[in-house]
Amino acid sequence: MAENIIFCYSATGNCLDMAKNIAKALGDTEIVMMRAFPVKTDTAEARRVGFVFSCNGGGLPVGVLDSVRAVSVSAGTYTFGVVQCAAYMGTGLYQIDQIHPLDYWASATHQCGCIWLMPHTLMMPMLSAKAAQKRSEKLAARFAGDIKEMKRTEKRPPQRRLNALESKVFTDLVARKAKQYRVSDKCVGCGICARACPRQNIHISGGIPIFGQDCIGCLSCIQFCPQEAINVGKVTEKRERYTNPNVTLAELTSESIYIK
Ligand SMILES: Cc1cc2nc3c(=O)[nH]c(=O)nc-3n(C[C@H](O)[C@H](O)[C@H](O)COP(=O)(O)O)c2cc1C
Repeated sequence: MAENIIFCYSATGNCLDMAKNIAKALGDTEIVMMRAFPVKTDTAEARRVGFVFSCNGGGLPVGVLDSVRAVSVSAGTYTFGVVQCAAYMGTGLYQIDQIHPLDYWASATHQCGCIWLMPHTLMMPMLSAKAAQKRSEKLAARFAGDIKEMKRTEKRPPQRRLNALESKVFTDLVARKAKQYRVSDKCVGCGICARACPRQNIHISGGIPIFGQDCIGCLSCIQFCPQEAINVGKVTEKRERYTNPNVTLAELTSESIYIK
């Protein structure tokens, strides 16, 4: 078993890039993906166990809480959490801390993947994709240094009650938004959207994607579509797509990645 295990949720790749950068600095790290239920939940022999994920609708992305609950962490194992968001960290770290008390936690902002709500450059501070990536890499190096030395954050992650409320409402909003997904005639039936979907909620029939009922609102199908043929209502038609430049779709959709 690897010395370090990082459980990672990532939609556009920002969090997987952060997890990879932390893993490279630590060495001997397995990144277990949490886009779907993780393939591994036992961390018995690991020295450090971390959770790297994005803030979605003020809290944990849909399904991540169940994955975190399933992970078993032995007493004495060093634990850490890193959340990425566009503007505010939300209640996700607090939720994880309630299950696995976190020795160390941190947050970072990056480009926004919530394309039906905002253009991707609308983040805090407002930065270009290139500048945001540079800043995120700098932060990853700092977090990794702290995690390597097993530093501890004195304060508990903030509860953020308002974000907790937002997070509850968000799941319903995701379900409503899922009904507004449309495919334009730019679609070439390549199937990349189906590959990008963490829930196998998309299948190609008659040369176009058909959406099922199990959408978690990650928007990977929209962001990775090379034809920009998928939209939520009309607003996304005018918005530029965003995916992290250092993460491939193959990495994002893998079950786990080992970094030596
Ligand atoms: C569906 C969705 C909801 C989001 N909700 C929030 C939010 O409530 N607050 C925030 O600051 N950022 C929010 N974001 C922005 C992401 O947290 C941010 O883009 C993050 O870097 C994405 O990382 P990932 O691509 O690795 O998942 C949201 C993004 C998506 C796709």
